[in-house]
Amino acid sequence: MLKVAVFVSGRGSNLRAILNSPKLRKLIKVQAVISNKATCRAFKIAEQYSINQYVVGNEKKSISYNNLSKFLKSLEIDLVVLAGFLKMIPADMIVDFRNRIINIHPALLPSFGGKEMYGMNVHKAVYDSSAQVSGATVHFVDETYDTGNIIVQRCVDISEVDSPEEILEKVLAVEHELLPYVIEKFALDKIIVSNGRVKVLS
Ligand code: GAR
Repeated sequence: MLKVAVFVSGRGSNLRAILNSPKLRKLIKVQAVISNKATCRAFKIAEQYSINQYVVGNEKKSISYNNLSKFLKSLEIDLVVLAGFLKMIPADMIVDFRNRIINIHPALLPSFGGKEMYGMNVHKAVYDSSAQVSGATVHFVDETYDTGNIIVQRCVDISEVDSPEEILEKVLAVEHELLPYVIEKFALDKIIVSNGRVKVLS
């Protein structure tokens, strides 16, 4: 079983998609759900599935960002999944878990990425640009926001939408399939990184 830590900041619908996936149930064990927000809704989901929850940050009783890598190693984590986690991952953790941290982004990178590009901000920017397609991207995490090697992307047609909220709905439905799919491929050792390009084997 692949040992997974899922990082979240809010609603947790991608966390739920991971935990509800029948395929993943046989391949992975979510050892920890980690958030920068003690009151996030995703923690409630973790609770329903009896998964340990941890807060990362500077407050008392939290795991500090400085100790995060060490903490994940102590849990023998194989894969870190950022499922709506909105804080920067510390540089030492990126080195220690190189090509073992993945992030889901609610647009087609390298467009509409970067520091302030998260959640609804992304869908508003996509809507305002009059782009006719959007989608979801799963990528490896490197030292800067949204620039790591892209693993998989799926497009959605947004030519008929009337609001950013409609884009969010369409993209989120795709995210809920894409993220479990990538985790499954990772667990089966079917993601190959070579010369800066990623291939997903069938
Ligand atoms: C998702 O749409 C995810 O792609 C996005 O936050 C949302 C979290 O939803 N992530 C980013 O914007 C990262 N840049 P969820 O908590 O319901 O899974």
